[in-house]
Amino acid sequence: FPIVVLISGSGSNLQALIDQSLQGQLDINICAVISNKADVYGLERAKVAGIPTHTLNHKSFDSREAFDNELQKLIDQYQPKLVVLAGFMRILTDTFAQHYEGRMLNIHPSLLPKYKGLNTHQRAIDANEKEHGVSVHFVSPELDAGAVILQASTAITKEDTAESLANKVHALEHVIYPLAIKWFSEDRLTFHHGKAFFEQSEL
Ligand code: GRF
Repeated sequence: FPIVVLISGSGSNLQALIDQSLQGQLDINICAVISNKADVYGLERAKVAGIPTHTLNHKSFDSREAFDNELQKLIDQYQPKLVVLAGFMRILTDTFAQHYEGRMLNIHPSLLPKYKGLNTHQRAIDANEKEHGVSVHFVSPELDAGAVILQASTAITKEDTAESLANKVHALEHVIYPLAIKWFSEDRLTFHHGKAFFEQSEL
């Protein structure tokens, strides 16, 4: 099942996909890993796994449209059935999001619809939340607003800092993101008219 993974950083979610696929738990073929930043650790992880990599620096483009257009061309050369955003820190144009509607996933470190955007762990602590977590969702043009597929949560303790909470959430990410991708590859997870379905049930 061909997928392309987009990253901007450490790529621990990418690593979880590589590992599960090597262990035979996930029947995917990561055709390429694309980063908008050079020299990030995620690119090293891909190279070690023998996956083709590309860096497309957004700063070399005059506009968001021009960058997304080039990115789309690059992705589509691989004809993936799914595009996986794994810590890809760029806001997408509507055109780009619409092109991959129903076949692009993102993982966001909060219990959506709470805490869209950045610094989610600190914001959850500051708001005295009792729990926090992570969401996998289909990507829609509006930031962090597409149909939610799966969430996992963890308690926030008095001792938690943004860093300790991020670590707890990362461990959950590495479980639920591969699972959602597995379901999609098995055609059990689908998208119709803006909504996510697991088999016949709306999520
Ligand atoms: C994760 O926290 C994910 O939820 C967010 O970006 C981070 C990526 O981490 N979208 P990594 O690069 O996969 O380690």
